[in-house]
Amino acid sequence: MSVCKIYTYPDEILRGNAANIEEINGDTQVLIDNMVETMYAAPGIGLAAPQIGDHRRVIVLDVSNIEEHRPLITIINPVIVEAQGTVESEEGCLSVPGYISSIRRHEKVLVKGVDRDGKEIFVEADGLLSRALQHEIDHLDGVLFVDKMSKIKREFFKKRYLRSIKA
Ligand code: NI
Repeated sequence: MSVCKIYTYPDEILRGNAANIEEINGDTQVLIDNMVETMYAAPGIGLAAPQIGDHRRVIVLDVSNIEEHRPLITIINPVIVEAQGTVESEEGCLSVPGYISSIRRHEKVLVKGVDRDGKEIFVEADGLLSRALQHEIDHLDGVLFVDKMSKIKREFFKKRYLRSIKA
């Protein structure tokens, strides 16, 4: 296992579309182990493969700091199959360090995918896990939370953020 570099905005590597995994093999296990270790080292509550420069559809999440009953979750090829309600709350991203914004998301989601043993799984979530699932699945499509801000807020963010990383 190794801690990988987390790519940050505005790196174009974060904008790629990740591909479904057809066969879970040793290489997939290495990717998952590296993602988990990188997430914990950051530390973060979720990570998607594109954030470490890998364009396969894998997300890992651990929100147990806040939602204690939720274990470490690994989902391969995750898809939101049901969504309900909307809720606005603050979120951040390891790929946009030091920045938090209030973002509108589905309140509840049902996510279907495959675990690291190849078993089909369903994860039903509200609260923080629901938000984190939606956030990480967005990464697989090259979407960042800052893309979901209003245009004015986004322009303001870009100017301030790009100035801060130059400094
Ligand atoms: Ni993120």
